[in-house]
Formats: sequence, C-alpha cells, structure tokens
Amino acid sequence: MNLEVIILAAGQGTRMKSPLPKVLHPVAGRPMLQHVVETARALQAKAIHVVVGHGAEQVRVALDDSALTWVTQEQQLGTGHAVLQAMPAVQPDSTVLILYGDVPLISAATLERLVAVAVSAPALLTARVAKPAGYGRILRDEAGALVGVVEHKDASDSQLLIDEINSGVLAAPASDLQQYLPAIKNENSQGEFYLPDVLAMAVADGKAVATCMAESELEIQGVNDRVQLNQVEREFQRLQAEQLMRAGVSLADGSRLDVRGVLHCGVDVSIDVNVVLEGVVTLGDGVSIGPNCVLRDVTVGEGATIHAMSHLQEADVGAACSVGPYARLRPGTVLGAGARIGNFVETKNANIGLGSKVNHLTYIGDCDMGAGVNIGAGTITCNYDGANKFRTEIGDGVFVGSNSTLVAPLQIAEQGFIGAGSTVTRAVDKGELAVSRARQRNISGWQRPTKNKD
Ligand code: UD1
Ligand code: CA
Repeated sequence: MNLEVIILAAGQGTRMKSPLPKVLHPVAGRPMLQHVVETARALQAKAIHVVVGHGAEQVRVALDDSALTWVTQEQQLGTGHAVLQAMPAVQPDSTVLILYGDVPLISAATLERLVAVAVSAPALLTARVAKPAGYGRILRDEAGALVGVVEHKDASDSQLLIDEINSGVLAAPASDLQQYLPAIKNENSQGEFYLPDVLAMAVADGKAVATCMAESELEIQGVNDRVQLNQVEREFQRLQAEQLMRAGVSLADGSRLDVRGVLHCGVDVSIDVNVVLEGVVTLGDGVSIGPNCVLRDVTVGEGATIHAMSHLQEADVGAACSVGPYARLRPGTVLGAGARIGNFVETKNANIGLGSKVNHLTYIGDCDMGAGVNIGAGTITCNYDGANKFRTEIGDGVFVGSNSTLVAPLQIAEQGFIGAGSTVTRAVDKGELAVSRARQRNISGWQRPTKNKD
C-alpha cells in the first residue's frame, strides 16, 4: 500500500495572539508542524503534502524541507476544501492520511492502526472525552456502525450529549476522497466545507466506515491557544522523561527536566532538577548533571560531572572532567579528559588539554592549552584589541599565577611559569619564569593616617 499524508496547516490561529503562524509555535524547541511531519515520516509515507494559507511563506521557510509538497489554500473555506486542494498531487491508488499541523502529539502507533483499517473505505480516529464541547460528535446506528459526524455548532441537544468525538484524523483510499470531496456542500451553520461529510457519503454508498480509538485524550489535543500549547508541551516532556527513565537514566524529578531537541545518553547518567537540554546533547556513561544547568549542543564524555548552575553551549567536555558550579562554556570549548573548570570561569574557542585546571574566576578565550596546565584565579586571556581577535598558546605543564593578564597573540612554552599579577605581552620560552609587576617596597616607620579631630 502507498501511503500519502496531507497535513492541514492553513488556519490562522487567532487565539494564539501572535504574529507567528500557529503551526510554527514550538513544542519541545521545534515547530509543532515539524513534529507532525516527523510522525508522518515514521509511517514511511511516500509523499507528505502540507496545506498552508496564513503565513504560508513563513511556514515554508521555517520548515526548510525539500521533501515536502506544499499546497496553498488561499481562502480557508473548511477542512474538506483544504484537503481537496491537495488532491491533484495525490496518486489515485494511494491511501491518504489526514493530519493536523496543530495536533502535534499524535503517535505513529495509533496512526498505523487507523491506516490499516482504511483499505477499502474511509476510517476515522475517534476518542471518548470528558468535555466534548467544541468537537464534532460521532453518530452511530443501533448496531453501533458509524453513520456520520455532526459538528458542535450544528448538533441538536441530544447529539450534544454524545461523548465520542471526531479527532479530525482520518484515513481513506484516495479514490474515495476524489469521489466525495467535490460533492461536499457548505450548507451548515459555519458555511464551511466539512471534511467529515465524506464519511456520511461513503456510508450512503454502502461502505462500512471503520473507527479507531486514540490511546489518550492528549494524543489528539489540538492547540488553539497558549494554555493548550502548554498542556501539549508538558505532556511531551512527561513522555520524554518517562522514556529516558525506562532507558536507564536517573532523573531527580521527571517533571523538572526539559529536553528541547535530541538527547543521547549512555549507561547510568543522572540528571538533577531544573535542567534544560537543547539541540543535540550527548551524555556519556556515568555522566552527572547538577541542578539548574543549561546545555545546548554539547557532548559530555564518560564519567564527567557538570556541577550546579553551569551553562554550556557548543562545547565538547572530555571524559572525567569536572565543570562548575557556575561555569560558562561558550562555543568552541573543547576540554581534554580530566580537565577541571571551576566557578565563575568563562571559556570560548578554547582547547584545554588533559587534566588542566582553570578553577576560579577566569576568562579563557581563543586559546590552545596543553596538558597539566594550572591557571590561577583571576587570569584573563586578552584576546581582543578592539578590532581583531588573537590566540594564546600555552604549553604543557605551564603554571600561570593568579590575576595574570595574558595579552594575545602570545606563546607560553611548556613548563613556563608566570608570576602572579603579571601582564604578559612577550613570548615565554620553555621553563622560563616571567614576572612583570612592580617590585615590592616595604617602608618601615610609616605612619597610618588618623581621624581628624573636630
Ligand atoms: C475539526 C472537525 C471536528 C473535530 C475537530 C477536532 C471539521 C469540519 N470539523 O473541527 O469534527 O472534532 O476538528 O479537533 O473538520 N484548516 C485548514 N483550512 C481550512 C480549515 C481548517 O487548513 O479551510 C485546518 C486548520 O488550520 C486546523 C484544522 O484544519 O489545523 C482544523 O480546522 P478547525 O477549523 O480548527 O476545525 P475544528 O472546528 O476544530
Ligand atoms: Ca474551528
């Protein structure tokens, strides 16, 4: 069977109160439409058609996905009209699955069940919900067979009591949609062409319309406003945290971790509370992340510890390193195995060699540092002269005394030693001591100032 997916995403989303098209609002750091596209891909769909209208160009640019077919629906005349716009691009022998750009939690497993029963007639995904208000209601005959869907706004008082609702998600042979969609009428309270009307038409033709129940109410939750966006976000995060714990990751609190991207974890990783992981984050075996850390596009080697309140972006932390608390690793930071970055240290474009220590109150930028280096508290690499950036090269075993200023471009060869409080502007050769500070004078018999008497 050839499966093609049509994703409806033309609606305006007025209740989001945002200039951003609704389907671009993020869930777990990615546009909600992208989640739907990924689910469609997981089903091995031969083609994915996205119907766009409001903010069409912005949506196309944001998804930047050449594998998608874009269809523009100039005027939003209803869900049936929207699907019809995509039909010219659909192969007549395909099975078509209709998804919604603003229903991002729908699972591939549920959709597989639905598609499997849509072989010779349309099939509909339904759900029983506590509050059916607003949804289309499922109408069945005495034998329990589906006869149609009535929209909330068109329903009679007795129909409003029905708690089985239309999720909106529908699968059908393309030929059925080709046949029924052009015949839909917009004679209803909203003056719209309703997609679910194809179901009653199929039934009138003697076809049996199958239904499947969604796994959970949240799976079919649509996003119309930011309250629902948040419900979907929290559910997504809850599911992700559960998957991580099942895969062997220890979370101090599953509801206080946010993963906005892709997380790869080794064995026995532990993550404390209020951690945010963005982009692609890879944590090796035995890695421990302390509370209140933010990591974006970071790799952490096995056995390393990131202590509380640290912020890491586009950094590569080697095995058994210790980072933080209160460390900031900026893009281009690479820490060799066993390196230590302590509190109030900022690094950028810096290679820090095996076992080197930068423990306190330091800025290391545009720097290549060898192994076994010790950088004293308050050291600054002065990498910027106001116009250009320069590098500092520090050889193996160098010792930099506290409060030193290393003015780049600068080389300090291996085993070099910088006296505390020095401003170093010239290369230091192997094993040399560089000191550049005023000599100490001690003045004996000096009188302390005393308070004026008035
Ligand atoms: C629709 C169903 C309803 C179901 C509910 C589930 C219809 C007529 N009703 O109602 O039975 O219970 O979903 O959430 O189908 N869209 C377009 N172009 C259009 C109209 C809509 O792309 O011309 C898109 C919207 O952007 C949205 C989706 O289709 O993503 C659903 O449209 P919406 O108007 O919100 O349908 P509901 O009234 O919620
Ligand atoms: Ca609506």
